[in-house]
Amino acid sequence: MDRPILGIESSCDDSAAALVRGREVLASVVVGQGRLHAAFGGVVPEIAARAHAETLDAVVRRALGEAGMDLRGVGAVAVTSGPGLIGGVLAGVMTAKGIAAGTGLPMIGVNHLAGHALTPRLTDGLAFPYLMLLVSGGHCQFLIVRGPDAFTRLGGTIDDAPGEAFDKVARILGLPQPGGPSVEAASADGDPARFAFPRPLLDRPGCDMSFSGLKTAVLRQRDALVAEQGGLWRQDRADLCAGFQRAVRDVLAEKARRALAIYMEDAPGEPAMAVAGGVAANGPLRAALQDVAAAAGARFCAPPLALCTDNAAMIAFAGQELMASGHRSGLDLAARPRWPLDAGAAPMLGYGRKGAKA
Ligand code: KG4
Ligand code: ZN
Repeated sequence: MDRPILGIESSCDDSAAALVRGREVLASVVVGQGRLHAAFGGVVPEIAARAHAETLDAVVRRALGEAGMDLRGVGAVAVTSGPGLIGGVLAGVMTAKGIAAGTGLPMIGVNHLAGHALTPRLTDGLAFPYLMLLVSGGHCQFLIVRGPDAFTRLGGTIDDAPGEAFDKVARILGLPQPGGPSVEAASADGDPARFAFPRPLLDRPGCDMSFSGLKTAVLRQRDALVAEQGGLWRQDRADLCAGFQRAVRDVLAEKARRALAIYMEDAPGEPAMAVAGGVAANGPLRAALQDVAAAAGARFCAPPLALCTDNAAMIAFAGQELMASGHRSGLDLAARPRWPLDAGAAPMLGYGRKGAKA
């Protein structure tokens, strides 16, 4: 049997290494840097880069140990070579080059977003083409995934990513970070209809989205309540969270319905819509997307969260797919801070807190 591929990921605030053979994940190690950045309210690129450079060797060694092998058992090295925070990407690329130069193993540079986008093939064996919604703290876009190196971008956020908006709303309301889970929990006994929050860009055709105005609307509503009552009651927080979450859900569900309609025009034999990214953990959102897929007669696929959020198994797997279709990188592989998956699509206007992603 073929030897497994070693994957390395360091484009944001997780140092990760994994070993993957076929659709089997032999080891997947993710060391987060949350603690290092907590005091700064966001990822500090210089701190991230230094931490990756210090951590990656140990993370690779741990992954090899968990898979019960050393580098002699590895068949190739796949590394995230963009997009992301340049210092972190460089740390990963240098680690991969060191391993490739020292062992003679072939190496492949992988687009981080392609890693996310190909994950449903690793977890569920989805056939091309399928529709993908990437929705996290750093990404938000709809893609038709046609092959390991063939993507059509149907639309995305023109400002914040939804996870970023969840995190900011949590901060506005004094709830703990990461904001997604705390806003979802607070929403549980909230009234989503008490406050009329906007559904940005819903009135415009297409699949582009915007979330920054929604966050500002929550801020204004909070300020109005504080001015009126002198503070926020627990129920106010719950209602604000529920209203915000409902608005995000409505926008993503409607845009998913449109993206699915465009994708279905090509009439694939077994249509499927997949999601990835931390925000895909949101219960009401997941249920709404599932309904959208069911209504269109498409299969819905949401990989387990550990493979939905940043990890190196997706990079190893994407590297394997790329190598199978003849791709290789040389030791001159460059780190790319910006690297859109679909070079033909219009560039995004803004990009997230976690750095330029596409
Ligand atoms: O994919 P991820 O781990 O990292 C990147 O952004 O690349 O996503 C993290 C984001 C955070 O913004 C977090 O607040 C959000 O995903 N998130 C959620 C939930 N769990 C995590 N957002 C909404 N609902 C959730 N349950
Ligand atoms: Zn990511």
